[in-house]
Amino acid sequence: MLSRSLFSLGRTLRMNLRPRRGSKKGLLVRGILVSVFLLALYSHLPLYGVKDLGNQLDWLLSDLSSHDGEPLEPLHNISALYHKFRYDTTMSFVDEYRLPSHLLTPQVGAGREQKWESIDEVQFYDADPRLIMSVYSGIWSGKNPEGYGDADKPIPFSWYDWADFHNFNKLIALQETRVNCSFFFEPVISKDLLNSVEQELDERLFDYKRGDYDDEIGPIAPDKAVFENLTNYCIEDASAGDSLPRKFSPGVAVTALRESVRTEVYAFQARGHLLNALANPLSLTVLSSDSDAYRFFVTQDSKQNIIESGLLEKYLNSYPRDKKNALDHIARFTDFVSSPLAESKRVDIEELDSDEKNAYEKDLIHLKESDFEFDALAKIEELEAKPNLNPHELNYLQSLKFTTQTHWAFAPKHFREVDDVKGFASLGRHHDRRFFNGAVIQNVHEAQIRLNSLIRNFQKFAKANGLISWLAHGTLYGYLYNGQMFPWDNDFDVQMPIRHLNLMAQYFNQTLVVEDPAEGNGRFLLDITSSITVRINGNGNNNIDARFIDLDSGLYIDITGLSVSSAMVSKKLNVYFSEHEDEFRSEIRHRDPNLVKDLTDLSLQSLRSEVINTGGESSWESQQVDSLIKASQRTLVTSESASKAYSEEQRYSLNHDLKLYNCRNTHFYTFEMLSPLINTKFHSVTALVPRRYIQVLRNEYMVPRKYGFMAYHRNAFIPELRFWVNSAILKGVMNKRASSLELEVIDSPVNSLKLDEVGKFYRNLARSGQSEVLSALYNSRELSTYRLKEIDLQFNDELGSDENVKLLGALRNSIGTNISSSFKDPYLHFTEKRRLEALLKDSEKNEAKIIDEHIANEMNLWAEALHDQVLPYYRCSPHGQDDQLDFNHQGAPISINGNPKRNNVFAKDPL
Ligand SMILES: *[C@@H]1O[C@H](CO)[C@@H](O)[C@H](O)[C@H]1NC(C)=O
Ligand SMILES: *[C@@H]1O[C@H](CO)[C@@H](O)[C@H](O)[C@H]1NC(C)=O
Ligand SMILES: *[C@@H]1O[C@H](CO)[C@@H](O)[C@H](O)[C@H]1NC(C)=O
Ligand SMILES: *[C@@H]1O[C@H](CO)[C@@H](O)[C@H](O)[C@H]1NC(C)=O
Ligand SMILES: *[C@@H]1O[C@H](CO)[C@@H](O)[C@H](O)[C@H]1NC(C)=O
Repeated sequence: MLSRSLFSLGRTLRMNLRPRRGSKKGLLVRGILVSVFLLALYSHLPLYGVKDLGNQLDWLLSDLSSHDGEPLEPLHNISALYHKFRYDTTMSFVDEYRLPSHLLTPQVGAGREQKWESIDEVQFYDADPRLIMSVYSGIWSGKNPEGYGDADKPIPFSWYDWADFHNFNKLIALQETRVNCSFFFEPVISKDLLNSVEQELDERLFDYKRGDYDDEIGPIAPDKAVFENLTNYCIEDASAGDSLPRKFSPGVAVTALRESVRTEVYAFQARGHLLNALANPLSLTVLSSDSDAYRFFVTQDSKQNIIESGLLEKYLNSYPRDKKNALDHIARFTDFVSSPLAESKRVDIEELDSDEKNAYEKDLIHLKESDFEFDALAKIEELEAKPNLNPHELNYLQSLKFTTQTHWAFAPKHFREVDDVKGFASLGRHHDRRFFNGAVIQNVHEAQIRLNSLIRNFQKFAKANGLISWLAHGTLYGYLYNGQMFPWDNDFDVQMPIRHLNLMAQYFNQTLVVEDPAEGNGRFLLDITSSITVRINGNGNNNIDARFIDLDSGLYIDITGLSVSSAMVSKKLNVYFSEHEDEFRSEIRHRDPNLVKDLTDLSLQSLRSEVINTGGESSWESQQVDSLIKASQRTLVTSESASKAYSEEQRYSLNHDLKLYNCRNTHFYTFEMLSPLINTKFHSVTALVPRRYIQVLRNEYMVPRKYGFMAYHRNAFIPELRFWVNSAILKGVMNKRASSLELEVIDSPVNSLKLDEVGKFYRNLARSGQSEVLSALYNSRELSTYRLKEIDLQFNDELGSDENVKLLGALRNSIGTNISSSFKDPYLHFTEKRRLEALLKDSEKNEAKIIDEHIANEMNLWAEALHDQVLPYYRCSPHGQDDQLDFNHQGAPISINGNPKRNNVFAKDPL
């Protein structure tokens, strides 16, 4: 008891007073910390104001669970568990959450068999969403004396409750072997240390490239800059002593990040930093499906998990004894949504009119020209006139002041990717530095599982708030074929009009988005650039305006705003530009509303004189400006833009009049290419795409006219499967030379499979153990079949476009409302995987293969029914049994399975 209050208090303070790099404050701060530890030691601060929870253990043991009834079957039945693991993406847990078997049972470490006797003794835990969401929902909806649900009272928070610390907990669990600061900053873990850690844990500390340590792995010279000043990066908690049990900490606090270490080391370092040093989000935004968002402000001055803050105890004490299922998080969240408090927490973006709020209900979404220009100076005035700004508004106001006062030449780089981790090279670019948690993208299937959750949640978040965004670049290209991303992509791209980007910043910058617990367990940080008013490429550091980042992998969605700007029109739009420039060229009719005279409107030349006057020739600023001047001179020579001869002011005005909008990486679009946006489905959830998406794609890629076989990026699109298959796997499964006796031989060329060969293909996948591919194929069958019908309807010339839009609307509002997710929720995936691995260890039978083959047969039946136009999936009764809609016979089926009726569907834009 004593040790914990001491420790958590110390940690809380350390967060706030963390010494800055190279500052003298460090020493002083540590002095204060020591005094605080001593103070805590003598004052016996009780952690729980009420009575000892240990006394309530009987009650906890017997009654509280997440589920009322028999143990769930798949838990002990390998076949059932395997089937659920691979071929069922619905959101349901295989077991029930109980305090004794989960919270009080260490999941890692030598003490795994020994339960803690009370919550007081818990030293670490997995942030199971059932525990966390039950507690928070309960606190939000119940009568809570502390008033956490009250309008302005911020709630306690620790990243520990919202992110994956499973591996990190192994370090906390260590009792004999200790890690110190060197562990987190040496490029390689010393072999001796790793051996003794793993011996004590009785399992591996990490998996990715663990094998390297079995071979001769030489030490790599550590980074001098770090080790000379290690205390700028890391603090060892000497006061935690060797005899005291450590709670929620390995006894070492990482306070700053430094790459140039191996992947596994950086993963621990970044988690340590997340636990101890990363600023709390400003708020939690909890989604209710894709229709509402509830926002709660988060305390900024401490980091306390639900045990440290007492939230858990408060919740358990207030939960009625005669009611069961205290840890049924879905029911508790439903209680919250229907509680009186919910309405006051629901986000309502006042700036959007009711038509805009309902945008996602429509077939076609008309944008406004005014969506593509934003007046930040006016917004600053508006916010400054408003009393009582909330934390998001304050942060946004500060940001607007900063960006409007900073010349674009000096805009700081906002987003940091992992780019210097050893042996990770180019792959790292796809991970945010703060949330790196291992080399997820090494496993394509597991990366896809995370990416699927990422995009689904962003789309749900955007829709719930009426924020307009549409698919762009490779993401849009992936949509074209089967309604989901290319399997080789590692991120997503979406675009927003600048006005919506600003609204998103005003309401949600630095929020942690939490998925509706009934749909999944995703948690994401929304982070928005510090230079939002810079709409040209500028110094090249900030092409991306915002990121939606997965806390458990650092994978993200790149979000870019489109706006009027003074950028030179891209070559692709030269023709459009030249056709229209004469209508407007004579005078300057529009000016960038965000330029501040003699500050941010300075040309590079004037800026140069300015900085040389103040800082001299050798200052960082003057060198920066010189190199930008050189770059702009080069551009003037090399650019093929039709607008390069105009001045910046003229270009701004012309782009405005010509309705030409660009992102900071100077991709240009005309208003008519984008608007009206088409309402559709991507990864089985609602998404928008530009009206002329074929033209948008052709400006960037060579898009074939045919919906047909296509090889790209070491993958092949097989239209008969509606799916991209990796070339190496494809070769094996085709088995042309009969090199595998277990597999059937597929005779036809892979670009024209016959119907019966599609069946063979599925069976061969199953027999060759490609269960991940089979699972991705099976779980996305509804989505890809849906997209196929959408293509039939979108590109059908036979009906008028009104009729097509009507049919598409009917498809979306019937079948489209309930398309299975192509991948499982990541948290479920990894918990089921751990359990399955444990079961399979003792199994001799081949349950998995039998189930894979069964699935292959199901897929074959699906393909046959689709071909024969009798697929049950295409039939629905939107208004009861009497009103049957059968999409098997709607639209103009495109060529599949050697029936080339119509094929050049992508020759022009839809509708
Ligand atoms: C270590 O810190 C000191 C004082 O903050 C500084 O002068 C020195 O350059 C630093 N050493 C390295 C290698 O960064
Ligand atoms: C295990 O689950 C499978 C599939 O759900 C079922 O067919 C089988 O009967 C179960 N086996 C046992 C021993 O319960
Ligand atoms: C950290 O511990 C290792 C042994 O595991 C030891 O060799 C090293 O000197 C320690 N480093 C520091 C900075 O205390
Ligand atoms: C978003 O928040 C970050 C962190 O506080 C800040 O640096 C950035 O300027 C903010 N961006 C906007 C547009 O508010
Ligand atoms: C959605 O589809 C699944 C089958 O994929 C079905 O079990 C479920 O009942 C459907 N839900 C609704 C609301 O129609």
